[in-house]
Amino acid sequence: MTAIGRRQIIMVADPAALAQAAAERVLARMAGNSGRIAICLTGGSSPKALYQLLATEPYRARIPWDRAHWFIGDERFVPVGDPRNNMAMARETFLDRCAPAANIHPIPTDAAASPDEAAERYARELQSFYGAEALDAAEPLFDLVLMGVGPDGHTASLFPNYPAIEETSRWVVGVPKAHVEPFVPRVSLTLPTLSCCREMLFEVAGKEKRAILTRVFAGENLPANRAQSIGETVWLIDEAARPENFRG
Ligand code: 6PG
Repeated sequence: MTAIGRRQIIMVADPAALAQAAAERVLARMAGNSGRIAICLTGGSSPKALYQLLATEPYRARIPWDRAHWFIGDERFVPVGDPRNNMAMARETFLDRCAPAANIHPIPTDAAASPDEAAERYARELQSFYGAEALDAAEPLFDLVLMGVGPDGHTASLFPNYPAIEETSRWVVGVPKAHVEPFVPRVSLTLPTLSCCREMLFEVAGKEKRAILTRVFAGENLPANRAQSIGETVWLIDEAARPENFRG
């Protein structure tokens, strides 16, 4: 394990080991909270193996499903029935089989007329869950926030040089245009909201991630570098994604 700034980097052999390591971290965070648990999921392809594991023994039996609440860090502004919908993927992969419906908190793309309206509604839902309209570092909103990194260094739907990355007051924002595929409008939690967690966990696997990881580790000003937890920030990386000069 290596530390760069406040970030811990954990190398694993391959995507299967990465999913297992991530599942263990999710369970450890849950075990550390005897009350209501909040997990913020992510979209993209990287977390799918983790989601499958969480629905499988021995992990499934170790999760206090009645106390665990599931949110999503960003959403593509498409109907729930669209295969590009992030929460729909998580629901199909594990939540619908395991979690009580009332504990699943999707971004309301169907019920809202625009990404901005969906963002406002989701902000209200998060605030009502949290019990306050201002975030307090002494009371993290999430136990764990899962993240991925895109080829341009975006994370959640916070793209490089977009105004959303500078947002300091709103909890959730509409993003009218995506910087990478799928080119649909997005809704994203902002950096202050995502960072209000006990642990932020990035999952990065595959050789196609090597180029962007090299830039991230060089300290470039990219959304994925700016996303840091007020608690622990952990990057789980597999061998194929390891930048050439990185010795972790
Ligand atoms: C999204 C995601 C996004 C994702 C990265 C990595 O809606 O697309 O939330 O931030 O995590 O783009 O995606 P992959 O896991 O598919 O590489």
